[in-house]
Amino acid sequence: MQAAVKISQLHKQFGNLTALSEVDFEIPKGSFFGLLGPNGAGKSTLINIIAGLVRASSGSVSVMGYDVVRNWRQARQCLGVVPQELVVDPFFTVSEMLRLQAGYFGCKSSAWIEELLEILNLSDKANTNLQELSGGMKRRVLIAQALVHKPDVVVLDEPTAGVDVELRQVLWKFIKQLHENGHTIVLTTHYLEEAEALCEKLAIIDNGKLVALDTKAALLARASDRFLCISLNNSDISNLPSLIKAKVESFIDDQLVLRLHKTQDEIGSILEGLLAANIRFSDLHIKEASLEDVFLSLTGKEKA
Ligand SMILES: Nc1ncnc2c1ncn2[C@@H]1O[C@H](COP(=O)(O)OP(=O)(O)OP(=O)(O)O)[C@@H](O)[C@H]1O
Ligand SMILES: [Mg+2]
Repeated sequence: MQAAVKISQLHKQFGNLTALSEVDFEIPKGSFFGLLGPNGAGKSTLINIIAGLVRASSGSVSVMGYDVVRNWRQARQCLGVVPQELVVDPFFTVSEMLRLQAGYFGCKSSAWIEELLEILNLSDKANTNLQELSGGMKRRVLIAQALVHKPDVVVLDEPTAGVDVELRQVLWKFIKQLHENGHTIVLTTHYLEEAEALCEKLAIIDNGKLVALDTKAALLARASDRFLCISLNNSDISNLPSLIKAKVESFIDDQLVLRLHKTQDEIGSILEGLLAANIRFSDLHIKEASLEDVFLSLTGKEKA
């Protein structure tokens, strides 16, 4: 199957700084794909190269089979990018900008523009100058702008940064619908719960290098630990058996969290240890490792 986006041996140098190095992977057609990485990892640089806004130092990228440099016109027609930066043209109203963009792609249908304005709750701002919009409203316009030509591949670079709860929900419902209709979705976000809930496959970039490429299930399965969370009846754990003490991840407000190895059956002996030390508890549950835990271990960062 042809990839929606094919990234081959991509390298990007900004002066002495290597922003991307030997990045090589494919984003499958029709997938909901997550692109994760810490600040400065190279995500936006990669997206800007896909969008044809930044030239790669070496390597190549194609969108739906079209090289983004040699066949840039066709590649751009297949692609809609919601940029991370909120840059808008101050000389146009919302409606003018969307019509202009649609015209650029040769789209005549104004019904779709009306629908986009409606879905993104922008109808009453249609005749407002872009400069007069709030940050969240500008974000909505950039989303609409990326979708005017109904592109096969939709790339969203941190679309929910600084966005209110309502738009976040509206946006996810809409994006899920686009995905169900066959569009490929590529999402960059620092909200890892969001990525965990939405993405089927993920790439993790760190320091310009690809450090993981896998399905969500396989990434989650990489975590070797899980957590036993115990609500204690009081905050005295001075006589905690040393076997249990060695497993303490955190102890805040009578909530004791122990880090357990996934493959070892330790819960019985922990409970026996607590009872023997006369430490009483009112509740306990297991928390499986999240995408955040896997992300932190892969990027070498510790949990705050
Ligand atoms: N135009 C540029 N000139 C010089 N350096 C740049 C330029 N654009 C990006 N960089 C550098 O390239 C590296 C990657 O930046 P990039 O914006 O791709 O990171 P990111 O993963 O999108 O980070 P964030 O999560 O903060 O958005 C950073 O070190 C950044 O300072
Ligand atoms: Mg970025």
